[in-house]
Amino acid sequence: MPRAELEELQLQRLRATLRHAYDNVPFHRRSFDAAGLRPEDCRTLGDLARFPFTTKDGLRAQYPYGMFAVHPSRVRRLHASSGTTGTPTVVGYTQGDLDVWAEVVARSLRAAGARPGDRVHVAYGYGLFTGGLGAHYGAERLGCTVIPASGGMTARQVRLITDLRPDIIMVTPTYMLTLLDEFERQGLDPRATSLRAGVFGAEPWTEEMRREIEERFAIDAVDIYGLSEVIGPGVAQECVDAKGGLHVWEDHFYPEIVDPLTGEVLPDGAHGELVFTSLTKEAMPVVRYRTRDLTRLLPGTARAFRRMEKITGRCDDMIILRGVNLFPAQIEEIVLTVPGVSPHFQLRLTREGRMDHLTVRAEARPAATPEQRTAAAGEIARRVKDGIGVSVGVEIVDPETLERSVGKLKRIADERTAPAPHE
Ligand code: DLL
Repeated sequence: MPRAELEELQLQRLRATLRHAYDNVPFHRRSFDAAGLRPEDCRTLGDLARFPFTTKDGLRAQYPYGMFAVHPSRVRRLHASSGTTGTPTVVGYTQGDLDVWAEVVARSLRAAGARPGDRVHVAYGYGLFTGGLGAHYGAERLGCTVIPASGGMTARQVRLITDLRPDIIMVTPTYMLTLLDEFERQGLDPRATSLRAGVFGAEPWTEEMRREIEERFAIDAVDIYGLSEVIGPGVAQECVDAKGGLHVWEDHFYPEIVDPLTGEVLPDGAHGELVFTSLTKEAMPVVRYRTRDLTRLLPGTARAFRRMEKITGRCDDMIILRGVNLFPAQIEEIVLTVPGVSPHFQLRLTREGRMDHLTVRAEARPAATPEQRTAAAGEIARRVKDGIGVSVGVEIVDPETLERSVGKLKRIADERTAPAPHE
């Protein structure tokens, strides 16, 4: 679809969404009214910038059903976000929403190189988390054979991959690393599996992690993005041929990038916080939802849909260390290229007196000698200091000692007890 036609469709869908939200969700009606706006005030795509944001806290305050815009009898399924930081958010889907979701995940898989008839091993968790079921129905929609493994029981996952011979795997990148260890533990060659590609998401991961996974498994590794509030996995997807960046399925989800501090809309190409407005959702339309994810929008390629750059981090995950902003991904880029350490690492935040202190805990490779471990610690510290501009502690721990991921990994262990004096 040419860009102009796409924008026409977006505007028409956007206006219908704003109307639907205003008429059926008191939360949206109140916030539009407070801003002095009516749905019909959105005459161009740019007018959306005048409408109020929706935040995670805003959604939480409506727990459980306050954001729903349809009669409860039309809701076919509920999911909930992990709720690691407080009250979970409940999201709902009509049959129409489930159809759109299956369609965008099917598209995503196709862009990842999957074809009808392929076998798809789904190791995202099944349940309230959107990963498992979202991937599952999308793969079926494309005409694939689904292996609904879910997360966990790592030895069994390896057995299933070996025996059932899937073409594609869908799993978090950190759990893929756990699977890698298990292949090696069982004496199996991870490069000899039937897998052709992996569709990785649900957590940030870097180009260095892509390289590690692609080399060690001899597969293509592509990025899938999504969030429960917007629909689940399948909001944006990287193509297997081009890789650089994820196409946003803009006919269903309208992206904006805003300055995380001022909320001002930024032009394409500028870095900022990703904001989404759903264009076709029925059960729970979202209007300018602040994802907290940091990225930028890039032009389309073979597809007209704009791309988003790989997520570099979340506003919430930013560590401020003696005035320097640092994201876990920056540490990942370094740890994954230092010899002698495995790709498993953890960031431990502590407070010494009035000062926050960060310790990078990285696991030694089994074959690493004590000298190599010392050298690795020095190199990580030096590269963090040179590249990011801050001193951190580095601890090289024994192999197999850090907690392994079975889904989304918690990278930061925050052991600071009291709030910092300036907070
Ligand atoms: O994680 C949906 C999903 C499942 C996406 C499986 C991809 C694959 P939530 O649990 O609501 O939904 O968490 C959404 O996870 O705001 C990002 O911070 C992060 N996230 C998701 N995908 C990526 C990605 C699912 N590809 C939150 N890169 C989002 C970086 C990601 N972060």
